[in-house]
Parts: sequence; structure tokens; C-alpha cells
Amino acid sequence: MKKRNTLYGLLASASVLFILYALVKNYMIDPEATSFLSHKTGLKRELNLPVWLNVMYVHVAFACIAMASGLVNFSKWIFEKKRRFHRINGYVYIVSVLVVVLTSGYMAPYATGGKISSMGFNALNIIWLIITITALVQIRRKRIIRHRNWMIRSYAFCFTNLLIHLITSLFHQGFGFVYATSYTIGVYGSIALLLVIPSIFIRTIGQSKDVSFPS
Ligand code: HEM
Repeated sequence: MKKRNTLYGLLASASVLFILYALVKNYMIDPEATSFLSHKTGLKRELNLPVWLNVMYVHVAFACIAMASGLVNFSKWIFEKKRRFHRINGYVYIVSVLVVVLTSGYMAPYATGGKISSMGFNALNIIWLIITITALVQIRRKRIIRHRNWMIRSYAFCFTNLLIHLITSLFHQGFGFVYATSYTIGVYGSIALLLVIPSIFIRTIGQSKDVSFPS
């Protein structure tokens, strides 16, 4: 029980901090995405900046909603005492994932790092959709523990952007790689980590009947 409390506390802190960071950075500090776009050189297609920026704003907004709604639904109290809310909030999460995937689909062809990065993003989109739909199918079949485990796998993808930037910084600033190459490594490194870390997490919290976090 104590281990789960700690895990939920850590997850909640990471999620809330990242939501705040994403909102402040993308809507207040650098709303034109100047620093990010400065790394896009030699694009094969011309980028329509106003459209790209608006799509990015929608992308970030729904990514934050997905992150917040997913976090709330892992709470044991919400799951046990507010089942109806858990259900509605679950659909809010799924719709948000769909919007993030759709907007990602628009931005992917212009991805930093070119075609290889674009392919990585398309793979991310497909994997995230499949995992999220599997979580929904499991609960429709009343398999609660499997639903929880698939939701943990799905929720991990909310940390895609954070992971990509961490790996990119490590390779760019730490090992001196070119930014675009570091970014491509970031995309594929994230896919690998986003598939591995949740499995370790699921093993840590075990297969007990206690399906959510105690909060
Ligand atoms: C849920 C948390 C997420 C947040 C907060 C987020 C945020 C952002 C932001 C701020 C950008 C603009 C560039 C930058 O500063 O990185 C961006 C770009 C992008 N995101 Fe996300 N994102 C998230 C998840 C995802 C996921 C899960 C995918 C794919 C399934 C995705 C696909 C993309 C793509 C394709 C781009 C354009 C990349 C480029 O132009 O090089 N994002 N995202």
C-alpha cells in the first residue's frame, strides 16, 4: 500500500509539473516555437507556419488534458467512489488521445530530422492508438486488471514529448551530436522506453485485486 502511495505521488508530481511546463513554455515563453523551429532546416515540404502553430496549440492543449484526465483516473478514490466520473473522464482521455494523434499526424511530415523521424512519429501514433483501444476493449469485457495495465501502458505515452527532449538534450549537449540526429534518436529511444518502462511499473505494483492507486 505504502509503495503504491509513493508511486502515485511521484506520478502525480511528474505529470503536474510537466503540464505546467508545457503550458507556460508553449503559450507564454515561446508561443511562436522559435527555438524549436530554428532546428528545422532543409524541409522537403514547405511549412505553413500559422497553420502549424495552431495545430501545435491544439496538440499541446489536448496532450495536457490527456495527461490530467489519465492521472485523475488512476486514483483509487475516484475509481471506487465515483465510478460514473471515472467512466466519463475515461472517454475524455480517449478523445484527447485521438486529438493528439490527429494533430501529430499533421505535424509528422515536417518533423525535425526528416523522413526517419516522421516514420517514428507515425509508428508512435499507431502504437498509442492500439494500446489505448485495447484498454477500452478490456474494460468493456469487464477485465479490470488488464484494463488498468493497458491504461498504464497508454498513459506512458503522455510523456513522449518530455522523453524526446531529454534524450535529444543528452545526445546534442552531452555527446555533441547534431541536433536533428539527436532528435531522431530521441524519437526512437522514446518508443523503446515507452514500451519497456510501463512493463516494469506493472510488475512493481503487481497483479493484486487492488486495481488503482490509493489516493
Ligand atoms: C502528451 C504529451 C505531449 C505533449 C505535451 C506534446 C507537446 C508537443 C510540443 C510542444 C510540440 C512542439 C515542438 C516541441 O517543442 O517539442 C510537439 C510536437 C510534436 N508532437 Fe507532441 N506532445 C505530446 C505527445 C505526443 C505524442 C504522444 C505524439 C505522437 C504519438 C506526438 C507527436 C508530435 C509530433 C509529430 C510533433 C512535431 C515534431 C516536429 O515537428 O519535429 N506528441 N508536441
